[in-house]
Amino acid sequence: MKLTERKILVTGCAGFIASHLAEELLARNNRVIGVDDLSAGKREFMSTMLGNENFEFIEGDLLNMDLAPALKDVEVVCHLAANPDVRLGAKNTRIHFEQNIAVTYRLLEASKDHGVKDILFPSTSTIYGETEVIPTPEDYGPLVPISVYGASKLACEALIASYCHTFDQNAVIYRFANVVGTRSTHNVLHDFIRKLREDPQSLEILGAEPGTTKSYVHVKDCVSGMVAGAEGAREQVEIFNIGSRDWMTVKDIADIVVEEMGLPNVEYRWTGGVKGGRGWVGDVKKMLLAVDKLESRGWQPRLSSKEAIRRAVQEILA
Ligand SMILES: NC(=O)c1ccc[n+]([C@@H]2O[C@H](COP(=O)([O-])OP(=O)(O)OC[C@H]3O[C@@H](n4cnc5c(N)ncnc54)[C@H](O)[C@@H]3O)[C@@H](O)[C@H]2O)c1
Repeated sequence: MKLTERKILVTGCAGFIASHLAEELLARNNRVIGVDDLSAGKREFMSTMLGNENFEFIEGDLLNMDLAPALKDVEVVCHLAANPDVRLGAKNTRIHFEQNIAVTYRLLEASKDHGVKDILFPSTSTIYGETEVIPTPEDYGPLVPISVYGASKLACEALIASYCHTFDQNAVIYRFANVVGTRSTHNVLHDFIRKLREDPQSLEILGAEPGTTKSYVHVKDCVSGMVAGAEGAREQVEIFNIGSRDWMTVKDIADIVVEEMGLPNVEYRWTGGVKGGRGWVGDVKKMLLAVDKLESRGWQPRLSSKEAIRRAVQEILA
């Protein structure tokens, strides 16, 4: 799937990952239509793009807006808009159903009607649930998500695959590890930095020591992986994990944050967590994705988990 000189719709383009992807697509000589309702995204995240004659921004809610103007002559849809908050699913199940499944369905229907041939979709490691095989490859099964968010993204994967086979479209589905970097607005790093600014002597950490063990990938590596996956796709529906090769505990993350903030003698106060030490209901305890498939198409993450976390902390502090 070529990603140069095409007209591409990027949903959620004022958000963390999509704003980086849209910048990369513009740098690769594409025309980009961005849609966002600014519920979580920010106009300032599009500041490098808003004056670009190859970029057009449409503010709207994908759940009810008229999609026809956004899809006019579009060849590729990159559907990144979603509600990605895993914790929310334990309190409100409707939001993930509407914002993730219903919005994806609406967009698929409209894309099919407008003759869109190519779809890129970011899914997540959480669709695997608690796996027995680590690092977890793309063909692992059965897929048993333990969060409503994970279930909603898996449902989207299934819908996209079925549309491709029914209506002769192509899709590349990416299962991301935890993505970190500049313009992120909600993750463990923001939580720790906010708490340590309020109290530089002690840090409350959700879960039981040393916390969950997971893999992290920097947003720049994530975007280069998306491009490599699209351009290296061989199947009508191709699935790629995107992550780094190592993993780390929540305690490792806290250590890096404390070090980068230059704070001596911080006391960690573990809450003990829920359901066997998890930070919250639906939090997977161990996650490391096998990335051999994407590496075989010429991609390599430049940063390890620890390097990505350190870089992201420095970016947030700056
Ligand atoms: N950040 C991660 O670690 C991670 C991991 C796996 C998968 N993903 C997926 O990557 C995608 C981007 O995630 P992110 O972390 O950049 O999140 P984000 O919240 O920064 O971006 C999502 C964007 O979508 C917009 N949006 C949400 N609902 C909308 C609607 N109904 N209409 C229009 N716009 C809407 C928001 O305003 C926001 O700008 C999501 O699909 C998410 O599920 C993210």
